[in-house]
Amino acid sequence: MANDRKNAKSVMSDEKIIQLVNLNRTFDDGVVAVDNINLYVRKGEFVTFLGPSGCGKTTTLRMIAGFDKPSGGKILFNGQDISHLPPNKRPINTVFQRYALFPHLNVYDNIAFGLKLKRVKVTYEKDGKIVEKVEKLKKSEISAKVEKALKMVDLEGFEKRSVSTLSGGQQQRVAIARAIVNEPKILLLDEPLGALDLKMRKDMQLELKEMHKKLGITFIYVTHDQEEALTMSDTIVVMNDGLIQQIGTPTDIYNEPKNSFVADFIGESNIFSGTIVGDKKVRFIGKNFDCVDDFEVNEKVDVVVRPEDVTLLDKGEGQVNGKIISSIFKGVHYEMVMLVGKAEIIVQSTVERKVGEDVSLMIKPNDIHIMKKEFTTNRYDGYITKHNTVCFGDGEFECDVTQLYPGSIVDEDGYLITAEGERIDLTDVDVNVEVGLKDIEISDDAQKGGAIGNIVSIIYKVDHYQLIVRTDEEEEDFVFDTEDTWNENDRVSVIIPKEKIKLSLKQEIKR
Ligand SMILES: Nc1ncnc2c1ncn2[C@@H]1O[C@H](COP(=O)(O)OP(=O)(O)OP(=O)(O)O)[C@@H](O)[C@H]1O
Ligand SMILES: [Mg+2]
Repeated sequence: MANDRKNAKSVMSDEKIIQLVNLNRTFDDGVVAVDNINLYVRKGEFVTFLGPSGCGKTTTLRMIAGFDKPSGGKILFNGQDISHLPPNKRPINTVFQRYALFPHLNVYDNIAFGLKLKRVKVTYEKDGKIVEKVEKLKKSEISAKVEKALKMVDLEGFEKRSVSTLSGGQQQRVAIARAIVNEPKILLLDEPLGALDLKMRKDMQLELKEMHKKLGITFIYVTHDQEEALTMSDTIVVMNDGLIQQIGTPTDIYNEPKNSFVADFIGESNIFSGTIVGDKKVRFIGKNFDCVDDFEVNEKVDVVVRPEDVTLLDKGEGQVNGKIISSIFKGVHYEMVMLVGKAEIIVQSTVERKVGEDVSLMIKPNDIHIMKKEFTTNRYDGYITKHNTVCFGDGEFECDVTQLYPGSIVDEDGYLITAEGERIDLTDVDVNVEVGLKDIEISDDAQKGGAIGNIVSIIYKVDHYQLIVRTDEEEEDFVFDTEDTWNENDRVSVIIPKEKIKLSLKQEIKR
């Protein structure tokens, strides 16, 4: 993990201020929001948790802050286990996703609120003895701290203003001032810019970055906006489904995504299905390309190429010919789609090629990123029912049980008759089930398929989509390729043709 962060930008120490050790949060209803994650945050670092909605970002942050208790694992602060400390005993402050200011208080009182409640230990000398007392902060101390915080968020002179008269961005700054006025060692920010419009977001991103530098404290930031994460962070932690997908600097994450989820989530990318055909040679879109990664010959891989790394040349001059089918001006560059066979390749360039133009593409070996294919087939544990169907993946499917015994048939009573004429009752027999990525279809008609679930992931792979349908009960996943367009969270049923369900016995049946 340490190597992933070698290029981090801002000055920070090597001290680990926060460590998450096998951190888990499983809710009562069985939802695993955070799935045994391990990571460290260095003192002074700007770390961002990035991932789609529901991936466990807020839950992780709430546990660091102390608002939620881990179901397993530990949280260390400077090496000390703080998992059981209440929030107010942790040197940590949080700016929430939905920050709530007190509408009836003015800016000053909103920021001073926590300080007025605060009690500090002070020591006096009395009759030659040292006496310890717990006291409120003095008015002048509070006022000095509030002024300092207001200056930090650029709101000097706003003390008397009612918060309801402030713009969204100004309210956001008050929320930040309220958190930093306590001089925390760590500031947690959960999508603090979510409520702002794009322009304001961009301004506030720069301001927050500036504030991080000035304060010199550790920031742990949460966002689902990849651009925000790339601009602001020293280190990005990409999460999905409660799991860490990759940890690294923005450049590492962008240039060397570890898997197709990261590649698809961060920036635009073309993801091709390829095969390694020789020493540093990969074949995709019908052509062999030189690459720099070592993989075994014949291995099936995902090939990631960023749109800006595809160079367009005149027809016949590059590696593969194709045709431009769309072109949009994006302010600085054109985003064009080039069709090669069935593959739609996204290309970004400051030079436009017109729709309909015949072109040729060129990709340099260094710009071809190769990743092991994550899913090559679906495997399940299943069992045969008395109707000779098979139950697996939270569903029940028609299947061909005769494949379990070559040459067998099923008689009219539903018994399997082997080639040797033996009669076998398959009821409740355990089987291994395998279903290929191309052998699953889905329908929005719940009655049509053998299992029901929601689409939880869609990754575009140049000439098709790779989808994951997850069932409700057991959270079984069906991973498959399709050319059809679906939306995330669509509720669908899973259809698998009988002949595509491959069965094998878990153990020989005793006869
Ligand atoms: N109190 C709870 N009880 C049960 N499930 C919960 C609870 N809080 C969160 N979850 C579930 O845990 C998962 C992670 O939620 P979390 O709020 O951490 O996601 P997130 O990454 O912050 O998402 P978003 O970007 O939408 O804020 C989700 O499936 C969510 O429904
Ligand atoms: Mg959240």
